[in-house]
Amino acid sequence: MKTIAPNRITDNFIELIGHEWMLVTSGTPGHFNTMTASWGGVGYLWNRPVATIFVRPERYTFEFIEQTRRFSLSFLGEAHKAVHTVTGSKSGRDTDKIAETGLHPVFTETGGIFYEETRLGLECSVLYADGIEAGRFLDPALARQWYGPQQGGAHKMYIAGITQAWIQE
Ligand SMILES: Cc1cc2nc3c(=O)[nH]c(=O)nc-3n(C[C@H](O)[C@H](O)[C@H](O)COP(=O)(O)O)c2cc1C
Repeated sequence: MKTIAPNRITDNFIELIGHEWMLVTSGTPGHFNTMTASWGGVGYLWNRPVATIFVRPERYTFEFIEQTRRFSLSFLGEAHKAVHTVTGSKSGRDTDKIAETGLHPVFTETGGIFYEETRLGLECSVLYADGIEAGRFLDPALARQWYGPQQGGAHKMYIAGITQAWIQE
């Protein structure tokens, strides 16, 4: 992989995040976890490129982000879409998702955790975090849809600075 300036990335992140999906990976080379996410954004805030993700507190990955305050986003492309059937449904608490998916982890000198299969990767350092509150929705139907009693814990929003971006050579 080679680095790319975040403002040189030409992908459409609405399409990428919403339809290609991404892996959120957090931890250390010796102890990390990864999960699928399809909610989030990439933009510009506080005069820097940022990525925002939304993670429910019951995810195992949540614990790693809370501890390290860092995460990496991996876009794998359509060729590896099947990976998400494992990473988006099984928990690292009781499954070795790397073994089950056959992903090949890659560790960058700057602390990123990606995969040989990553076609675009973002290293992120959390700048701001807060929980979504159902009572603050201006449209209560949205709160009922996503934060009702059957939905699990409310997402925590992490706004993170993009400290390094990578693409396949
Ligand atoms: C397409 C798709 C998108 C998902 N997006 C999110 C998301 O944005 N936030 C979230 O907390 N969970 C999301 N999930 C659920 C997690 O990927 C899933 O619960 C996963 O098993 C958590 O793994 P972990 O417990 O090892 O962290 C998504 C699942 C799928 C299949």
